[in-house]
Amino acid sequence: MENKFQRILITAALPYANGHIHLGHLAGAYLPADMYARYQRLKKRNVLFVCGSDEHGVAITVSAEKEKTTPKAIIDRYHPANKAAFEAFEMSFDNYSRTSLPLHYETTREFFADFYNRNIVIEKKEQQLYCEHDKMFLADRYVEGTCPHCKSTQARGDQCENCGSWINQIELIDPKCKLCGSTPVIRETSHLYFPLGRYQRRLEEYIKERHERDGWKDNVLRYNESWFKEGLQDRAVTRDLTWGIPVPVKGFENKVVYVWFDAVLGYISSSKEWALKRNTPDAWKEYWQRDDTKYIAFIGKDNIVFHCIVFPAMLMAWNDGHPDEQYVLPENVPANEFLNFEGQKFSKSRGWGIDVRDFLRFFSADMLRYALGVNLPERSDSDFYLKDFQARVNNELADILGNFVNRTLTFIEKNFDGKLPPLGPLNELDKGMIEQIKNAPEKISSFYEHYRFRDAIAETMNLARAANKYFNDSEPWKTAQSDRARCATTLNISAQVVRALAILFEPIIPATAEKIWEILNFGTLLRSEGWDSAGELKIEEGHQFKKPEILISKIENKQIDEIVHFLEGSSSGNGESKSAKSYISIDDFKKAELRVAKILSAERVKKSDKLVKLQVDLGSEQRQVVAGIGKHYQPEELVGKNIVVVANLQPAKLMGQESQGMLLAASDPEGNLVLVTVEKDI
Ligand code: 2FM
Ligand code: ZN
Repeated sequence: MENKFQRILITAALPYANGHIHLGHLAGAYLPADMYARYQRLKKRNVLFVCGSDEHGVAITVSAEKEKTTPKAIIDRYHPANKAAFEAFEMSFDNYSRTSLPLHYETTREFFADFYNRNIVIEKKEQQLYCEHDKMFLADRYVEGTCPHCKSTQARGDQCENCGSWINQIELIDPKCKLCGSTPVIRETSHLYFPLGRYQRRLEEYIKERHERDGWKDNVLRYNESWFKEGLQDRAVTRDLTWGIPVPVKGFENKVVYVWFDAVLGYISSSKEWALKRNTPDAWKEYWQRDDTKYIAFIGKDNIVFHCIVFPAMLMAWNDGHPDEQYVLPENVPANEFLNFEGQKFSKSRGWGIDVRDFLRFFSADMLRYALGVNLPERSDSDFYLKDFQARVNNELADILGNFVNRTLTFIEKNFDGKLPPLGPLNELDKGMIEQIKNAPEKISSFYEHYRFRDAIAETMNLARAANKYFNDSEPWKTAQSDRARCATTLNISAQVVRALAILFEPIIPATAEKIWEILNFGTLLRSEGWDSAGELKIEEGHQFKKPEILISKIENKQIDEIVHFLEGSSSGNGESKSAKSYISIDDFKKAELRVAKILSAERVKKSDKLVKLQVDLGSEQRQVVAGIGKHYQPEELVGKNIVVVANLQPAKLMGQESQGMLLAASDPEGNLVLVTVEKDI
């Protein structure tokens, strides 16, 4: 880090309070941000680390509509839940705020009104999509269609999730209203626009300069370049919605501020809230309004344009008009790519993935932090597999780190009454180990300073690996009998490594580091010596250790089976993950009339290899049911089976054939469709 920096400001993307935090979120922004913050604090730097819930925008209102409740109810459910999940994951935020606070309204309105008064945001009439059925303009996620850039069919009105493009909604191909499914019309409406294009040259310079100074990641640079190449356009920063911060401009009071305009300012509001809570209301300015602050913004790749282009442009616009209130711009935006879960993208709508709170019911936060950390999607997307997770925990955390700490302290307990034995004359092995301890802090530092968290973790584990080898090669179990002084030296050095590991592992697995400190029996004063002291042999001869305990227990196959079982129970083929919203009431269930039916005859529907036409007997009546099972059953083998049908489903026509009900079937592990049958006539 350059010396000019006196303070470090760290932000992690404000997650929408419309769902639970899952492992993909952690790997994108939060774990790297937390490791970085913890590392910097150990380096004795002055750190402010803030985050909070993003509570506006269509992400929230669409969730509310889906769950048939109000936006307020949604944010009041997920804000506390996400705050708690982050705490359980040992995130060390100095403050976790929320954008529904009055304080945040003030911040946003101050920026917005200032931009309006200084003629930066200006009114423009534009064509927008309007749904005649729902009688509203379709802001952002209220419209879906095909992405004009990558042709993904699930692009939203503001952003394409597939390619990350920030879309102007009228460019969407084949747009559809998200609420009623109809095709919207184009209508003119008035909005206030932020002139992004005006800042393009300065933004390009800004990124170039920061990259030269701090080394921006390739994925981030490439992404920004594609934006610059297309040329930055003016962007509407108001929306025709009722949920959000009312626009503080006369004539626009019925509109709200665009969620991304207020979200990025949420970092500032969260810092203000932190300052207020400590009774130093201006302290936030020490971080935000001084040019000797190093500001690092951690995000996932879908947020790049907002943090590298929109937010810096907003801060430039402010700074131009306020010589005495100059905001610091991000020094770096180390965005990560995406994490997949068991080979597939995390998807809320498909119910694929696992929430943090659920995961932590099965395994400790440190296990998760370690396994996610070694596999962060730093340069490209990466995968999280439960079997890998188990292997990482067992073969590395338990077998290397846990084993080394345990064998060292157990040996000292048994052979030296739990007291640190003296350091005698050094042999080559000793010298080699001491050299490695000495070099470790700086070597690992350089990875942290360059946002290379995977490498930082690997290098930290390498020290524990080297220590195990040192212990083996020194054979203290032999020298304990033959050469006690030699044995003492081996154990002295080993214990010094244990202390070094407690420091160097703290950013990665803080609770385990704390446990090691406990076993080492150090008061808070000695623990607070910081990162660089890890390279020194600090424990004094005769220091009394506590009785060692198992640091990390291995994960058994049975435990993996349990979580797999849980996951199978919580998601269905296209269902939602298990939570209050996916339950139906008994009354809903009673609406479906499930009847056992005997198949009387079956024939294939012409020109279809999938459809089979069945005549079935419901006991009280006969019906015709058309089912897509032709690839899995021959018509002959169907006759006589007792199947289950939904008897009161609205009749439908399939390839010209009327179907008066639907039968139940499910896939086996190979993907074959199997009919749900009953063994007797009932
Ligand atoms: O993608 C998201 O979840 C956004 N809520 C991130 C906002 S980051 C910042 F601007 F607050
Ligand atoms: Zn796209």
